[in-house]
Formats: sequence, C-alpha cells, structure tokens
Amino acid sequence: MKILVLNGPNLNMLGLREPGIYGSQTYDDLVAFVQQSAQALGMQVDIRQSNHEGELVTCIQQARGTADAIVINPAAYTHTSVAILDALLAVNLPAVEVHLSDVHSREDFRRMSYCARACQHVIAGQGFDGYRTAMAWLKKNRPE
Ligand code: DQA
Repeated sequence: MKILVLNGPNLNMLGLREPGIYGSQTYDDLVAFVQQSAQALGMQVDIRQSNHEGELVTCIQQARGTADAIVINPAAYTHTSVAILDALLAVNLPAVEVHLSDVHSREDFRRMSYCARACQHVIAGQGFDGYRTAMAWLKKNRPE
C-alpha cells in the first residue's frame, strides 16, 4: 500500500516553532518517524511538505494513480482552504487528517476544518504518533 503523507505550511519549522505546542523535535525527525512507521506497517510512503497552497493541491492531484491513500496535515490551510478540500474530493482517495496539537482545545478558529469534509478520519493531539495511527487506520480500513 502506497501512502502520500502531505504536510502544510510552517511544519518545516518544527523544533523551532512554538515548542510548547509542537515539541522540540524537528521536521527531519518527523520524516524519519514516518518512514520508520511505514516500514513497520509494511507500507510505502512518499512524504512531502510545502508552504504553498497551490503546491499542496498539485501534490494531491498527482496522488491519483500513484498513491492508494493520503495522510494530510494541512496545517493552517486546514481552516481556510476550499482549494485543498476540492483537490481531496477530486482525487477521491481514502484520506486521514492529522494534527500534532489538539486543535479542539486551542483557539476557536482551529476547530473548523474544511479538509476534514473529505477525510474519513481525523486525529489530533497525538504528536508524531498521530501519523502512525493514521497510516495504521488506512491499512485497516483499506477498501477491498
Ligand atoms: C496544526 C494545527 C493548525 O491549526 C496549525 O495552523 C498548524 C499545525 C497541527 O499539526 O497541530 O500549523 O495542523
């Protein structure tokens, strides 16, 4: 099973950015964690990050035909981007939305997600483990 793991803006700043919320591990640590988790689950993973909405849309479009499912942390675009929602709806692949922090216990605006409308499952507040949980969920719930 091939998974696209897609990370949105400012996630490349992990380790530096608001460590009280996002922890002290870096983006490279996250990449290593996702790759190890995929290997342990017997999955192939393509992990990408972009600060640009259009690039994230293009990555989602390219997943059609190259990936079986998507794990996405759209970061701030979660709460603003109809374009990312539409891209997820267009490719119609199984998708899980992940957030490192517990978006439900933060500012009100973080509670609303456009992208979640196109995702089968949402995981928030588990830190890096959320990505592994998302991949395991997609494996378990893989369509026949
Ligand atoms: C985030 C939560 C978002 O609200 C925020 O804009 C991010 C990161 C998370 O992983 O907790 O950039 O998606």
